[in-house]
Amino acid sequence: MIGKLNHVGVATPSIDESIKLYRDLLGATSITEKRSMAEQGVSFVFVNLPNSQIELIEPYGENSPIHGFLAKNPKGGQHHVCFEVEDIYAARDEMKAKGATVLGEPRIGAHGTLIVFVHPKDMGGVLVELMETPKAGEGAH
Ligand code: CO
Repeated sequence: MIGKLNHVGVATPSIDESIKLYRDLLGATSITEKRSMAEQGVSFVFVNLPNSQIELIEPYGENSPIHGFLAKNPKGGQHHVCFEVEDIYAARDEMKAKGATVLGEPRIGAHGTLIVFVHPKDMGGVLVELMETPKAGEGAH
């Protein structure tokens, strides 16, 4: 079921400050414009790498789920990993059938395709995002 690693999510109190690390310290040359998803409470950019992406996320709005993470990790840190799946509903159903806690219903994520999150308590402490693989010509890579 599990497909490509699409991205690693990194929470930060400041995307602008984190961009400096990836651009100036690590030498990343391709970073997307900052965008926000109000309904998910995050602003984000993608640092494009040859084989994957880093998703930098910072809180957007007072009810952002990132506030709690940053309360525990004030400097930010690794927040989730995102794997591609062919069919988000089939993946959701399979995860549930195997006893995992799927958080919410499939919804449109930062790449414009459907995503769900799987609770870290069922994944050895790792918050997992499952994302439907963008069809050819679709998605914001
Ligand atoms: Co993500």
